[in-house]
Amino acid sequence: MDDRLITSSMTGEDEQIEYSLRPRYLNEYIGQHNVKEHMRIYIQAAKHRGEPLDHALFYGPPGLGKTTLAAIVANEMGGNLRVTSGPAISHAGDLAAILTNLAPGDVLFIDEIHRLNANVEEVLYPAMEDYSIDIIIGKGPSAHSIRIDLPKFTLIGATTRLGLLTSPLRDRFGIKEQLELYDVDSLKEIIERSADILNIGIDPEGAIEIASRSRGTPRIVNRLLKRVRDYAQVKGNGVIDLETARAGLDMLAIDEVGLDAVDRRMLTTMIEKFSGRPVGLDTIAAATGDDATTIEDVYEPYLIQLGFIARTPRGRIVLPRGYSHMGYTPPMDSAQQKMEI
Ligand code: ADE
Repeated sequence: MDDRLITSSMTGEDEQIEYSLRPRYLNEYIGQHNVKEHMRIYIQAAKHRGEPLDHALFYGPPGLGKTTLAAIVANEMGGNLRVTSGPAISHAGDLAAILTNLAPGDVLFIDEIHRLNANVEEVLYPAMEDYSIDIIIGKGPSAHSIRIDLPKFTLIGATTRLGLLTSPLRDRFGIKEQLELYDVDSLKEIIERSADILNIGIDPEGAIEIASRSRGTPRIVNRLLKRVRDYAQVKGNGVIDLETARAGLDMLAIDEVGLDAVDRRMLTTMIEKFSGRPVGLDTIAAATGDDATTIEDVYEPYLIQLGFIARTPRGRIVLPRGYSHMGYTPPMDSAQQKMEI
């Protein structure tokens, strides 16, 4: 279980607030400019033709709004949203039940679609291509298959790991969109919108401060907003300004660029124990007590975006900026290591 305050995984509390804060239409959705413009065109064209939208795949780190976008697509297309996930569908029959219960124009959202098992995936292919499924009735010599037609629906798949999708599945999505970490301006807009909905007082400097420490992730910005609000209520006058935002986030041990104790321990270990030499992922995982996959998919992308670490064929290295941020002097050869990447 991941209980870090800066985790981008969904927590129970997030689920409640995300629901109330979730934008319902494309024009309320902040940031992800390219994705939004593409989707706007595809949706308008499909509606004009009176057809369901092509199947769409959203990929990128967790917490960036893939589920939110799927809900927006359903709203914009005037269909219902059905939500499930790869690990939740263990048998082909489970998926068949979901598919046969869809209504025309519905959007079926499958989160973590890379975790579907092979039998289930086989059912999805004809469903996506021809809006039909083949069901085997009976066992042994009397077994036979019957074809069931499905309503015309749109499948939206989401994944944090595009590389783990099988190519037959990947190829069946007409639309593929990559969601990227948000810039501070977009996060500031998101936090101001959220504060407005939740009736929280915040000034622009306070909003920028929280936005800058939220790792490019709306889910984190909204979570930190709530925690800093508590701090402002008890220690200040209830309104989040620069000073309360700084003090609140410092108390939560989230530094100026959004790193928490685990990130810092990871960087310190790489610098002190390995003197900045390339370190394997499993070694880092053992040193921090975190799961290697989580480090790779969730924590590293942000450290890489900050230019603090890099992946090289021989392992992870700390870059000069990572040294400086942690208060160390970069070794003489770290610039050269950077050149070798
Ligand atoms: N809440 C979470 N993500 C959002 C986004 N991209 N725009 C508006 N509100 C959001």
